[in-house]
Amino acid sequence: MTKILVIHGPNLNLLGKREPGIYGKVTIDNINKKLRAIARKKKVQLDVFQSNHEGEIVDKIGRAKNKYKALLINPAAYTHTSVAIRDAILATGIPTIEVHLSNIYSREDFRHISLVAPVAKGQISGFGMDSYLYGLDAAIKLANA
Ligand code: DQA
Repeated sequence: MTKILVIHGPNLNLLGKREPGIYGKVTIDNINKKLRAIARKKKVQLDVFQSNHEGEIVDKIGRAKNKYKALLINPAAYTHTSVAIRDAILATGIPTIEVHLSNIYSREDFRHISLVAPVAKGQISGFGMDSYLYGLDAAIKLANA
């Protein structure tokens, strides 16, 4: 069965309580349940991973080669800082979709730059939980291409 890796970056474990004015009340469990339901219907297998640690995310991506057909990632704050995550995506060559709950381009200037976007197939930003759902749809299409 086609396998897709989902990675949630730092502080996304706090969704629901974290800055609800920006991120809403949705929790990471709510998101994962929706993603799993879509995956079941589309007959793809999802592995879901959350970490607050850059090196753990780098390790996870580094081990993804030949195992996963696509990566759906919200790198969270590492979007704007992590050369290591960008390089891991390049090293594995895994087709990647970057997602964000908030519209990073309507927020502070430092969020306008994504180090991941240039090595991703595409980016979806600003649709709350739906960013992940649209992102999974795109990841499934890439995985099956
Ligand atoms: C985020 C946007 C990032 O700028 C921020 O650091 C996050 C969440 C989003 O999903 O909107 O932690 O990736």
